[in-house]
Amino acid sequence: MNNTARRVNALAKQLGSRRYLEIGVLHGNTFRDVEIPERTAVDPGFGFDTSELANEVTRFFKQTSDDFFAEAPIFPPYDLVLIDGMHTFEQVVRDLSNVLVRTHQRSVIILDDTVPDDVYSTVKDGLASYRHRKTDSAPARGWQGDVYKTLFYIHDFFPSLNYRTIVRDGNPQTLVWRANGVHRSPVFDNLERISRLDYFELQDNLAVLQPATEAEAIALCVAEIQAL
Ligand SMILES: C[S@@+](CC[C@H](N)C(=O)[O-])C[C@H]1O[C@@H](n2cnc3c(N)ncnc32)[C@H](O)[C@@H]1O
Repeated sequence: MNNTARRVNALAKQLGSRRYLEIGVLHGNTFRDVEIPERTAVDPGFGFDTSELANEVTRFFKQTSDDFFAEAPIFPPYDLVLIDGMHTFEQVVRDLSNVLVRTHQRSVIILDDTVPDDVYSTVKDGLASYRHRKTDSAPARGWQGDVYKTLFYIHDFFPSLNYRTIVRDGNPQTLVWRANGVHRSPVFDNLERISRLDYFELQDNLAVLQPATEAEAIALCVAEIQAL
């Protein structure tokens, strides 16, 4: 079981989650191990034969998240959602917006790719990211695009959401949940400025990630949701 499935299952167990949505599924390395009764997978290019797993409670939508949400009903809402599709700021903000209306007060949203491996990983275009890395003979790392900007956006403009970024215990991810009266002073307070942030400005403002261990992030998320 990978880190993501472990985190999803830990949250699901403590919160009694019954409906799961995963945006960006690829080979299903996480999806297959999610222990939640109803599972929905969305990806324009699944990397496996989905008919092996598809049934009444395990649904596959071979389309972009935008196309999926254009038709997806608002009810019943999802309890747990993993956003791991296109790794750009704009797409993740749009996915988050669509997910917020299809979740409820006690849902958890996990954002993947919120912490880039290095500066090459932040290039917006994935193919260009790998090309520049190769040209510079830079070490092989992943591509997270500019998803990190989403945390600045949430930090400054969504006081209605709380979050913590798991920065140890495996690949970084951010847990997001509805908050009750969180006060944060905006760092940039400017959407245009946030959309132009670069890797080094992220490094200068790492506190905005609200870093935590996996255990700390899950414990706080569950405690705050249970107190709502
Ligand atoms: C990093 S992989 C997902 C990994 C998977 N969540 C896991 O944990 O194993 C990203 C996936 O996002 C998909 N993707 C790309 N653009 C997308 C979009 N607009 N909507 C939904 N999925 C998208 C890609 O096809 C790819 O399979």
